[in-house]
Amino acid sequence: LLRGERGRDLQGRHVVVSAGGTREALDPVRYLGNHSSGRQGQALAVAALSRGARVTLVRAHVDLPAPAGVDVVEVGSTGELRDAVVAAAAADGGADAVVMAAAPADFRPAEASASKIKKTPEQPAPVLDLVPTTDVLAELAAHRARAGQVVVGFAAETGGDGRSVLELAQDKLRRKGCDLLVLNDVGGGAVFGSADTEAVVLAVDAPPRPVPAGPKGLVAHAVWDAVAARLG
Ligand code: CTP
Ligand code: CA
Repeated sequence: LLRGERGRDLQGRHVVVSAGGTREALDPVRYLGNHSSGRQGQALAVAALSRGARVTLVRAHVDLPAPAGVDVVEVGSTGELRDAVVAAAAADGGADAVVMAAAPADFRPAEASASKIKKTPEQPAPVLDLVPTTDVLAELAAHRARAGQVVVGFAAETGGDGRSVLELAQDKLRRKGCDLLVLNDVGGGAVFGSADTEAVVLAVDAPPRPVPAGPKGLVAHAVWDAVAARLG
């Protein structure tokens, strides 16, 4: 039904989607990471494919089968994710849209230890020296590989400090410089890893559009509706 309503409105388009959570090595056996399952990014890839797009999916540590018919690039760290997404976004004259559904690690150890960090009972616990990773979304938004390339971010917010999730997300949309930002309210803690989600699509130049609670495929189609409207 969804496919029937939208038709193949992304036919002839190339879209890039990132998915999953990146990991930053501490030593050869340990990393800093997060609980992103990659389900939302995979749902976006499948939805775009069903609407006729050529899809490049850059995914980090997604423990799900790669969707058939999608060009998949597997990455590990935020640096690798950045390089793969920037390359895919610039390929063949530039992708029509880039959707950053991945959860990149925000910080990495300043230096990864070449050998396994050992615990020595007489020594104090090690202190981790962290440095920020590249903000891929902000970079994509600032350096578009083609005029009119639609750049989309995701944000999971809990609110706090007297600021609502919507206020935080509006700020993030402007700070990142992207066209669309999909907000997931994770105050209840139920969004990560679940098949269902509740989201709001924010645009730089249009009122927020809520997506009713439902499977991540529904959110995915709502994102492509907003992208297709911008591509015209
Ligand atoms: N993002 C990115 N590169 C990073 C961190 C985040 O491209 N190094 C992208 C995510 O893929 C997402 C968007 O930025 O589309 C928002 O991610 P989020 O973690 O909510 O924002 P941050 O700017 O990292 O802010 P914070 O984690 O402090 O809320
Ligand atoms: Ca972050």
